[in-house]
Amino acid sequence: MTCLMWAAPAWAQAPRERINIDDDWAFALGHATDTARDFNYATAPFFFAKAGYGDGPASARYDDRAWRRLSLPHDWAVELSFDSRADGNHGSRAIGRNFPENSIGWYRKTLTFTQADVGRRVSVEFDGVYRDSEIWFNGHYLGNEHSGYSSFRYDLTDYINYAGPNVLVVRADATREEGWFYEGAGIYRHVWLTKTDPLHVEQWGVFVSSEVRGEDADLSVQTSLLNEGDDDRSVQVEEQVVDRHGLVVATHSQAVIVPAHGATALDSQIAVEHAQLWSLEDPALYRLVTTIRDGAGIVDRYETSFGIRTVRWDADTGFWLNGRNIKLEGTNNHQDHAGIGAALPDSMQEYRLRRLLAMGSNAYRASHNPPTPELLEAADRLGMLVINEHRMMGTTPEIRDQLERLIRRDRNHPSVIIWSVGNEEWAIENGELGARLTRVMQDQVRRLDPSRRVMVAMAGGTPGGSSTTTDVLGFNYRSQHDVDRYHALFPNTPTIMSEEGSTTATRGVYVTDRAAVHLAAYDTPQRPTGTSSIQQGWTAVAERPWMSGMFVWTGFDYRGETTPFGWPAISSQFGMLDTTGLFKDTAYYLRAWWDDTPTLHILPHWTWPDRVGEPIDVWVYSNAEEVELSLNGRSLGRQTMTPNAHLEWTVPYEPGRLTAIGYRDGRRVSSGEVRTAGAPAAIALEPDRTTLLSDDVDTVPVLVSVRDRRGDVAPLANDLVEFSISGPGRIIGVGNGDPGSHEPDQSVERIDVSPVGGWRITALSHPGDAGAAEWRDPFQWFPPGSEPAPLPAYRARGSFRASALTDSQEVTLFLMPLATGQKVFVNEVDVSASSGPSGAGMMVTVPIDLLRVGENVVEIHVADDGPASLARMVGVGAQNVASVRLRTPPAPWRRRVFNGYAQVLIQSTGSEGDIVLTAQSPDLRTTRVTLTATKTQLAD
Ligand code: GAL
Repeated sequence: MTCLMWAAPAWAQAPRERINIDDDWAFALGHATDTARDFNYATAPFFFAKAGYGDGPASARYDDRAWRRLSLPHDWAVELSFDSRADGNHGSRAIGRNFPENSIGWYRKTLTFTQADVGRRVSVEFDGVYRDSEIWFNGHYLGNEHSGYSSFRYDLTDYINYAGPNVLVVRADATREEGWFYEGAGIYRHVWLTKTDPLHVEQWGVFVSSEVRGEDADLSVQTSLLNEGDDDRSVQVEEQVVDRHGLVVATHSQAVIVPAHGATALDSQIAVEHAQLWSLEDPALYRLVTTIRDGAGIVDRYETSFGIRTVRWDADTGFWLNGRNIKLEGTNNHQDHAGIGAALPDSMQEYRLRRLLAMGSNAYRASHNPPTPELLEAADRLGMLVINEHRMMGTTPEIRDQLERLIRRDRNHPSVIIWSVGNEEWAIENGELGARLTRVMQDQVRRLDPSRRVMVAMAGGTPGGSSTTTDVLGFNYRSQHDVDRYHALFPNTPTIMSEEGSTTATRGVYVTDRAAVHLAAYDTPQRPTGTSSIQQGWTAVAERPWMSGMFVWTGFDYRGETTPFGWPAISSQFGMLDTTGLFKDTAYYLRAWWDDTPTLHILPHWTWPDRVGEPIDVWVYSNAEEVELSLNGRSLGRQTMTPNAHLEWTVPYEPGRLTAIGYRDGRRVSSGEVRTAGAPAAIALEPDRTTLLSDDVDTVPVLVSVRDRRGDVAPLANDLVEFSISGPGRIIGVGNGDPGSHEPDQSVERIDVSPVGGWRITALSHPGDAGAAEWRDPFQWFPPGSEPAPLPAYRARGSFRASALTDSQEVTLFLMPLATGQKVFVNEVDVSASSGPSGAGMMVTVPIDLLRVGENVVEIHVADDGPASLARMVGVGAQNVASVRLRTPPAPWRRRVFNGYAQVLIQSTGSEGDIVLTAQSPDLRTTRVTLTATKTQLAD
């Protein structure tokens, strides 16, 4: 066995670079139906006819100084207000077909390259853009990705300007929807630049699968090499298997010839002795380092993270991991979180998985779309099994391509145990077409990944169609399937309860208040007949050894799908956890039966000032054998727990302490208490971690609670808390889990960009000439390419519209440079004096009171070098001569606590130091908490 320490040696400065380009994008909302408000995109002659004729913001010359600056990931939907005209299934944000003004997002990013990049292949990789993205680079159209969830890439090499700036432009169109749940909008995942030698490992070009033999494992490695150069290349391909301690535990090397403009597929078998298996308790990961050398040195180095484990599916006994029969105790989840929508910093992926693990869950279904890569990385690291789901069922080239990208991207993750290719395909799942599509998609998956099974999650009906061809039967709800009948009909097909529950409950609410869209959190079926409570659902699964497991609908609450309410509810209530990740009561039920550690949870809270003497239903979730409940020291009786059940008492309310003690074998093993809270007195702030990386991205959720004088959470408190922050941290979102709250999740500056359009120009015989004889369209007058006639002086007049105006807004006019002596007027007032240079053009500060709602006029007087400036005006005409930026500064960050709790998300701003978060509310004691941002993460 080779046993070397892996330390990146000097030659590791291989030609491959993978550079995150999330920082410093310019952003503006365009318009889905009004071309002028979409920056006149797609209007210039030859726009889509000639290479490099991208116009409006798609042109490299477009002046985006007026646009907002931001970093990715970014979800512009979560910044918008709620609106009853919006789609409730999508969370009622003012986006979609009724809001064309909010449904197009433009992003522009300047990239520079150097001579050192000449000869390398450069590509841009998007992990996901919602949705229907059109991508332009230096005015050249690169392509269009309809999917809001697929990862995609474009090769930029041939279009690069090595001597000057390069502009990458994304136009995302969120008008149409893909799912029936909140989906966000914009570049909500990372973007990368990859630079390689012309000879390199293809994107996602390494696939490691393993077979365990006793203590050891045999790895099968498939590698795909691409040679995009003009010469055949002879290279040595070295493979090193590196364990989690950095030790090289196996190596392999072979010589290959990769033909010019060709590809070579390599297969290698590598034995790993004493393999550390990836398991839920100990998720050991390996890296395969693929190094390509030629006579001159390192050509490429590519790392693949993988795990060694065995997976077996059995129609009678379910799922087996490393020879152990494991019940899948899972949840379904969409990808949004409180405060930030779909744009999750990586650390939030990890936070969310940790919350689910804390509930005892071991499995996650990425419903109903390919997840963010970092979610899978976190699942690999933390030991969470994943059902990885493709978006739309089908076999067209576009859909096959999306499926292939998903499999190739994710097939090395040990956490991924199954591919799902369909969910409740009502139109086809029970018929011949369902059977056919399932078979064809499954075959495609098998060719790309023979190591995993394929599932279709079905809505029920007659057991035909997809059920007859799928590898693994996914049942969405027992209420929709007679699962025993299916098992009898398909005795050789493994089964999963791919969805169960869809129960609805509001965190901290125990009496339904329909007007407030709040639902009591006792675990009851969503509808009295047919549907299951979580307890009924889990008990049925636990009783059937052949059922591999259950995926609760859902782990977290998510925006949209506001069952059973419509507006004004804005989020779902299916979650075991609310949108912030706080447990609802049923999460403790699951923890009791999914996790062996003693659990005891009492519901409801015990603060009912208006219900003294009234009976209150008290439930206890626990995995103790017996539980005794006492009120103010008086026993209310000891009851025996049935496995997978809960206990109930009816208790006349009196203030005080309600206590429960759990016993196993007669010994006390667990306890819980709820006690009557006093009036709200103070705010408490509890960060999930007290240190964070000073990397400008690491994010820590801080739990906010309102406490009484004794420090108990006040379960009815709904105080409005205002947050401020100092030091190297920023607030990026606030939430409270209230499905009826229309408070903003974000407090960001609002930037409205209005292009100045409708330009007319009039020639003057001399600068002082007042008589404007004829106003003409400058761009018609001088068609592109023609030389404008010399003019001693001219006036150009354009206009823009302003909607609502407020005193706090800051107005800036950005003009392309026309002439040195130009004067600028806004609504006939000379504003030239306030101008300052900025980048390539003028930047003029305009007093807000000069503007009026409706039409505003901008006039430019050009005196001294008319001819040249006119040529310039013609040149920029197809782009933008001038834009007006209306900036509304952000409001202070604030949020109500909901039933005592809220959450604030704190992100590093890049420097080391102490971050102090302050929380204030008029009637409560102010609180501060300090987090420390450091270069290296300290254990908490
Ligand atoms: C299922 C569906 C889920 C969700 C759920 C709500 O039918 O697959 O996406 O809509 O119902 O109950």
